[in-house]
Amino acid sequence: MAPVVYLFFLFCGLMPLALCVPSIGSQPEQVHISYPGVRGSMVITWTTFNETDSMVEYNLWGGKLFTQTAKGNSAVFVDEGPEMRKMYIHRVTLSDLRSGATYVYHCGSEAGWSDLFFFTALNESTSFSPKFALFGDMGNENPQSLARLQKETQAGMYDVILHIGDFAYDMHEDNGRIGDEFMKQIESIAAYVPYMTCPGNHEWAYNFSHYRSRFTMPGQTENLWYSWNIGSAHVISFSTEVYFYLDYGLDLLFKQYKWLKSDLEEANKPENRAVRPWIITMAHRPMYCSDDDNDDCTKFESYVRLGRNDTKPPAPGLEDLFYQHGVDLELWAHEHTYERLWPVYGYKVYNGSTDEPYVNPKAPVHIITGSAGCREKHDGFIPKPRDWSAFRSTDYGYTRMHLINSTHIYLEQVSDDQSGKVIDSFTLVKDVHGPEAWL
Ligand SMILES: [Fe+2]
Repeated sequence: MAPVVYLFFLFCGLMPLALCVPSIGSQPEQVHISYPGVRGSMVITWTTFNETDSMVEYNLWGGKLFTQTAKGNSAVFVDEGPEMRKMYIHRVTLSDLRSGATYVYHCGSEAGWSDLFFFTALNESTSFSPKFALFGDMGNENPQSLARLQKETQAGMYDVILHIGDFAYDMHEDNGRIGDEFMKQIESIAAYVPYMTCPGNHEWAYNFSHYRSRFTMPGQTENLWYSWNIGSAHVISFSTEVYFYLDYGLDLLFKQYKWLKSDLEEANKPENRAVRPWIITMAHRPMYCSDDDNDDCTKFESYVRLGRNDTKPPAPGLEDLFYQHGVDLELWAHEHTYERLWPVYGYKVYNGSTDEPYVNPKAPVHIITGSAGCREKHDGFIPKPRDWSAFRSTDYGYTRMHLINSTHIYLEQVSDDQSGKVIDSFTLVKDVHGPEAWL
């Protein structure tokens, strides 16, 4: 027996066994990455159950491993269930990354390292043509689209993933263990490309604390609302839940509205809109839908669309704000279906023309894509949709979006039920952006 091993057994023979078993709690898990909205950077986020250092070791793809080290910090997160489970959420920001270069990394500390992952630093050019996968409503149980997304993401088909609210079902359940399991499940996609999020109603527990604590989005709002730029697009993520969970404070609704207005004004400054002509929003509960479940979007007086008159002061809705600021494309989820709308404003269709409805439309275009798969299964549609509804599907699946250039965006819907078949597609073409596009 080697002397060191002999000493170990001698020492441990005198100690309670637990003190000699290395704690698994120092092992990093739930690794995911996000773009913090700062050029040349990427944030790596992960979880441990013991307090450890927060380090990322990385290098350019193909080079010598771990030549660079970045340090960050961790925050304690305590689930508010009966067990009050405690975990450490680690965040490390990598800076000065080379635009469009691929890096290999692992994260952790001297007490435990993650698997090896890779990511491509965001291409910072305004002529970059990024490809997105987007969906909402993916759960720990029955995440039907996940396998296809895992393969496609690791094969390099996407630059970014947008998860439009409703995670895990629900992250707080079983004292937060469902959240842990879900974050482990999505590591296979979220550790490779920026995983950008917005909150949904399933994140409601303990004032959205799991959502606020587990992700790392741009800005200072604990992931509730933020915006960022990619290629020729300005992307705005926000919370529709401020219209529904008033117990958490009506002030959040007004703060967000004020922020949305100023962000849209900034994005519409001629010098900004000239380089980022597309404005795309993402949020959970849609303004329009033709589902049969009596959700907000099934009602003419949708809170998200028109605001609320039962609050003091009345809460403004978002349809007018987005229309007035020339929002091009609005991405939603919540309904466990896929629905494409004709360009619509105020319940009226404003197609570009009869032959080419999405060429120079006179109102924003809405997509609802909440069918990634979860324990609640599918939603149903009303038999006769309104005339603003262009295409509907109850298949499990997700959406692909290719931001081709400053005038063209291509979207297609993938059916997982039909083995990955593209069941819907269209190209949104805009020669003019901004409110003047509606004239
Ligand atoms: Fe939802």
